[in-house]
Amino acid sequence: MWLFLGMTFSLGILIPGKLCSDLQYDGDQVLHIVPETFQQVQHLQHLCSTLMLDLWKPQLLEDIRAGEDLHIRVPAPLVQEVKDSLDQHMISYKVLINDVQELVDESVLKERSQRQVPEGYNYTEYHPMEEIYEWMTQIEKNSELVTQHYLGNTVENRTIYYLQISQPSNKPKKIIWMDCGIHAREWIAPAFCQWFVKEILQNYESDATIRRFLQNLDLYVLPVINVDGYIYSWEAERLWRKNRAPYMNGTCYGTDLNRNFNSSWGSVGVSFNCTSEVFCGSGPESEPETRAVVQLIEQKKSDILCYLTVHSYGQYILTPYGSTTTPPSNNEELMQVAQKAAAALMGKYGTSYKVGSTSLILYSNSGSSRDWAHMIGIPFSYTFELRDNGTYGFVLPPDQIQPTCEETMLAVTTIIDYVDQKYFPGGAVMLTSGSLSLCLSVVFTWIAS
Ligand SMILES: *[C@@H]1O[C@H](CO)[C@@H](O)[C@H](O)[C@H]1NC(C)=O
Ligand SMILES: *[C@@H]1O[C@H](CO)[C@@H](O)[C@H](O)[C@H]1NC(C)=O
Ligand SMILES: *[C@@H]1O[C@H](CO)[C@@H](O)[C@H](O)[C@H]1NC(C)=O
Ligand SMILES: *[C@@H]1O[C@H](CO)[C@@H](O)[C@H](O)[C@H]1NC(C)=O
Ligand SMILES: *[C@@H]1O[C@H](CO)[C@@H](O)[C@H](O)[C@H]1NC(C)=O
Ligand SMILES: *[C@@H]1O[C@H](CO)[C@@H](O)[C@H](O)[C@H]1NC(C)=O
Repeated sequence: MWLFLGMTFSLGILIPGKLCSDLQYDGDQVLHIVPETFQQVQHLQHLCSTLMLDLWKPQLLEDIRAGEDLHIRVPAPLVQEVKDSLDQHMISYKVLINDVQELVDESVLKERSQRQVPEGYNYTEYHPMEEIYEWMTQIEKNSELVTQHYLGNTVENRTIYYLQISQPSNKPKKIIWMDCGIHAREWIAPAFCQWFVKEILQNYESDATIRRFLQNLDLYVLPVINVDGYIYSWEAERLWRKNRAPYMNGTCYGTDLNRNFNSSWGSVGVSFNCTSEVFCGSGPESEPETRAVVQLIEQKKSDILCYLTVHSYGQYILTPYGSTTTPPSNNEELMQVAQKAAAALMGKYGTSYKVGSTSLILYSNSGSSRDWAHMIGIPFSYTFELRDNGTYGFVLPPDQIQPTCEETMLAVTTIIDYVDQKYFPGGAVMLTSGSLSLCLSVVFTWIAS
């Protein structure tokens, strides 16, 4: 199976040792606070807004609540002032991250040039966009099951591609959609999409579950939606979140693409100020990245059974809706499947996930792709918020890529398996001699390539 990883993989570019980033976070700290009273909440809101602190959890001032976790990044020059103010108001805090820049530096290989990869693509490190583009090309070339497709262009006119994993068959199939990287700084998400593709291709012959659902389902995987933002997070600001759309004559940048879909757009949990991390754009689907996704999904929606969108952090499997507390009609089933997925995930390394509707267990937000997908009729729609629960937040160290992906794989395949069994009952007996020989011919070409 390692043949696959052994594909020759030449990197067109070499990234210098350090992130060649404009914005540094030397001495910035991330603080963890659980406000106890309404007065404390008010003081924290005031502090965060006057000092323009970077809210990691929740994302909006209004969502700071007594008894709930607050994670804020405080720039180095303000650390003392903020701590003094918290002390004065008798608000206790814990330092989650002592020096953000130190973590940022650790999350990319110091000497990427040493990584000449004769062994193939390394799935346990973070990759810049150029390498992910190259990876997509190589995956398509090296597998009979994978085709790369054009999805659309970004604000900065870069190409967005998705991969389709499809077992050749002449019977009609349904579709599972998964996207990653809608928020630039959540690097673990694109790492998971790549891991997912690798795992499917490595194991579809030996793993009975994958073999079974691939007979009925095509997998559409979009490793990075927000290509411009992802590149920007590598080259300029590691903690960039949004896309790179210029607003107000380029005096401010970026729409939160997960507030830009046409699901109660602009109604709750958003900002109309383009300096905000949760700016929802100038209108529903104002962004080309959003429109690219919408166009394909609209076209295929009657065949799509499941829409998965992968984020970090917080360790949640979230169900619709974020924009209203009214549960969707199939809420009970959505919850049961998510709970089963979370249990499978926990079985691997004991990582604990919370499951529930976004507006009830996290906070309300409109314009998410998850809500939109369910509203247009895709029955199973989930947001994954991957590791961790705040210890490293958006700067998850690379040594957690593998365990995170392994456990998440179990959750995702649990969901896909459920959907498969529901829509294709009795599919297990479908492995006929015809499909077996097809499998074998695929193996053969695989080895030959
Ligand atoms: C992949 O990257 C990880 C993290 O940098 C490193 O520890 C590991 O040795 C690499 N594996 C290979 C096969 O190069
Ligand atoms: C965007 O890129 C495409 C190629 O992908 C090119 O044909 C087109 O001219 C570009 N558009 C702009 C505005 O640069
Ligand atoms: C943008 O710039 C143009 C010309 O430089 C000016 O006429 C216009 O008022 C500006 N718009 C905004 C929103 O600042
Ligand atoms: C958004 O949805 C509403 C109906 O809910 C529709 O009237 C409107 O045209 C849609 N907007 C876009 C940009 O698709
Ligand atoms: C947008 O937010 C910034 C930063 O908080 C603020 O300075 C600016 O006045 C706001 N703009 C508008 C139009 O409200
Ligand atoms: C995260 O979870 C671990 C156990 O899984 C716990 O020890 C730690 O306190 C949690 N951290 C936060 C910030 O909640």
